[in-house]
Amino acid sequence: MNIKQNVLLGLALLSLNAAAEREVMNFNEAWRFQKADVEASSPELDDSQWRTLNLPHDWGIEGPFDPELPNRTGKLPWAGIGWYRKHFQCSGNDLLKKVFIDFDGAMSDSTVWLNGKLVGGWPYGYSSFRLELTPYLKKGDNVLAVKLDNKEESSRWYPGGGIYRNVRLVKTDAVHVDHWGISVTKPNVSETSATVVVTTDVVGADDHTQVFHEIVGAGISGSGTDCSLTVSSPKLWSLEAPNLYTLKTVIKQDGNVVDTVETVFGIRSIEYTKDGFFLNGQQVRMKGVCQHHDLGPLGTTVNKRALERQIEILQEMGCNAIRTSHNPPAPELLELCDRMGMLVQVEAFDCWKASKTPNDYGRFFPEWHEKDLRAMIHRDRNHPCVVMWSTGNEVKEMRNKEGILVSQMLADIVHKLDPTRPVTTGCNHAVAGFNGFEKTVDVFGFNYKAKDNAAVYRRFMKEHPDQPFYGSETASCISSRGEYFFPVLDDKAMGQGGHFQVSSYDLFAPPWAYKPDVEFEALDRYPAIFGEFVWTGFDYIGEPTPYNKDNTNLLNFTDPDERKHMEEQLAKLGGNIPPRSSYFGIVDLCGFKKDRFYIYQARWRPELPMAHILPHWNWPERVGEVTPVHVYTSGDEVELFLNGKSLGRKKKGEYEYRLRWDDVVYESGELKAVAYKNGKPWAEDVVKTTGTAAKLELTADRAQISADGTDLSFVTLQVSDGEGLLVPRTHNRFKLSIDGPGEIIAVGNGDPTNLESFQSLDRNVFNGLALVVVRSKKSEPGTIRLTAQCDGLQDATIQIQAK
Ligand code: GAL
Repeated sequence: MNIKQNVLLGLALLSLNAAAEREVMNFNEAWRFQKADVEASSPELDDSQWRTLNLPHDWGIEGPFDPELPNRTGKLPWAGIGWYRKHFQCSGNDLLKKVFIDFDGAMSDSTVWLNGKLVGGWPYGYSSFRLELTPYLKKGDNVLAVKLDNKEESSRWYPGGGIYRNVRLVKTDAVHVDHWGISVTKPNVSETSATVVVTTDVVGADDHTQVFHEIVGAGISGSGTDCSLTVSSPKLWSLEAPNLYTLKTVIKQDGNVVDTVETVFGIRSIEYTKDGFFLNGQQVRMKGVCQHHDLGPLGTTVNKRALERQIEILQEMGCNAIRTSHNPPAPELLELCDRMGMLVQVEAFDCWKASKTPNDYGRFFPEWHEKDLRAMIHRDRNHPCVVMWSTGNEVKEMRNKEGILVSQMLADIVHKLDPTRPVTTGCNHAVAGFNGFEKTVDVFGFNYKAKDNAAVYRRFMKEHPDQPFYGSETASCISSRGEYFFPVLDDKAMGQGGHFQVSSYDLFAPPWAYKPDVEFEALDRYPAIFGEFVWTGFDYIGEPTPYNKDNTNLLNFTDPDERKHMEEQLAKLGGNIPPRSSYFGIVDLCGFKKDRFYIYQARWRPELPMAHILPHWNWPERVGEVTPVHVYTSGDEVELFLNGKSLGRKKKGEYEYRLRWDDVVYESGELKAVAYKNGKPWAEDVVKTTGTAAKLELTADRAQISADGTDLSFVTLQVSDGEGLLVPRTHNRFKLSIDGPGEIIAVGNGDPTNLESFQSLDRNVFNGLALVVVRSKKSEPGTIRLTAQCDGLQDATIQIQAK
């Protein structure tokens, strides 16, 4: 580099530091809301009596649950029309700028007016979108009105309703970086060097516009709308070390800074081959889960801490990948996955033109599929965590010729928008792996095809030896936390006991699905399958299979005994089937681990010494009766003891993923599992018959939170005996109270049949546990005190500091 270049670079860096910021304002506060089918676009309308609230907001989660509403969408009143209005001020100076409103997502079919003038809208409730307000703004008072319209039967799960994600107001110069206008790709990545290619879409650019880029803190800079930067010895983004960089882009017009944007990116390479998935040249098996977008008792209202907690729990299990089934996620999820080291498959749609429910996305597909794909990919393309784009889930089109063309058309759109990541689709019909549909995607996803000795997987490998493939949806095992029914039968329909619960022996599944062990065997037999995405990581609201009244598939059991059992179960259920949330989760709706958590942890974290016994050991009515015991361990052998007496030492056979003692005769006391690995002691677990319930206990996931009005503390309420052991099978009713600068925003217990409001401060624990979600108040530091009371048990109080 010569002296002149050096000076120029120095000047460029100097001016980058002096750059002006575009104005990005949080626009969540003080909206007026009414859920009604009215006409409320006029600025003159008197909305002073409407409810005032802050976004994000899900009107459905506020309830009440209605037993007459469909199970499949959670028996909550998310459907219908709702209006949001916001009054805000504009200065004369604002009128000289470009002004935009950015919605991260509004459920659904939004129409937006400013000062009575139609601005625009977006049908798909999961897409992020920007609308330009400039032509309709005036000095002084402005009134923005947003109408949302959720049609009944538009979803197969609980979609929520309202402006459930964040909203921002953005003010820029006439010359500015376009919405999602920066793309950062890394065509060459090695440990010694990486090429970072930045392309910039600038609105209003002319000959006097200049574009500068700087990788913050790295002393690397360049210029131009297409710019290539070289990073030597890059800190690669990986699951173990999710290193991130920030790119600062500055736009100058006639020498003056007019816009600055920052883009977070990571440097990593991905590759899919017939042998699997490679991150930075290292093979990584995807240990994934599918996740719906609701946050349990919080509903669909996005909250970053709630998402972070989900990822923490999934990572504790060893999960390294999330499929955002079956729609684009909140942007916060991807920010967290970037930072925490999780792979993500971002999925666009649950259906294409052929609908699954009468009013779903099929209505919008012809006109909107391209716009929605563009919104998804432009928004998310710079996230290192995103490693595939899925164009759909179980689309009906996969079986016909026309559908193959549609799939190809969608894949072409995706490739054009982002040539750096593969396209996939989750297919439940085996035929899609062989009828030409498979050729339209880069990596092929099978839903539920590990069963029957993985015959479909084997055929795929034979016919497409070079095409990467994986289990895009697996298991769909069902269980209720802490429920166990006897006798324990391996037939997969037999886990359905009374009271609409499902036994937690993790052997039960609907007809199309299977226990976790089945997928593990297929993955172990055929290592070319690059991973699985379990249905699901967390329980979600809606789709309470096997008690999903709308789900006639349940009678598809081919085994006559299973079918008879299901018919009897359904007959018993009659018309009114209570459950409102799923049984599929590895963890329950509140984030409490079910037993299944540990069969995945045992497999996904083989280096972690662990053992887990099921069931609990409080069965006074079963003395002398056979009560099977299963143990999940990352070891290879376990000796089980009941009250000190060995019940035998068992070793996992090939393709065996749990150890079973099926003939244990119950007596109260202590069960102890001593696990071994390679003959050496490895881990232990103990389950004891507890004393009677004596006290409540409160434990906060974080005892200190930020006083920003959004941060949360997740408090577990437990019914304990005198020694502090969780007393299973307890359903005590408790009452909550709070003082100090915090509020209880949601309460839950993980019981899929519970129709009490998630806001109620008065409810039952479910098998010993409940969850209380406490939120700080904005700019109000201090001590929050949460108290739980229950007749006959000792109270509990916990303090949380808001700082
Ligand atoms: C799949 C579907 C998922 C969910 C699941 C339940 O077929 O893709 O959305 O419904 O079944 O097992």
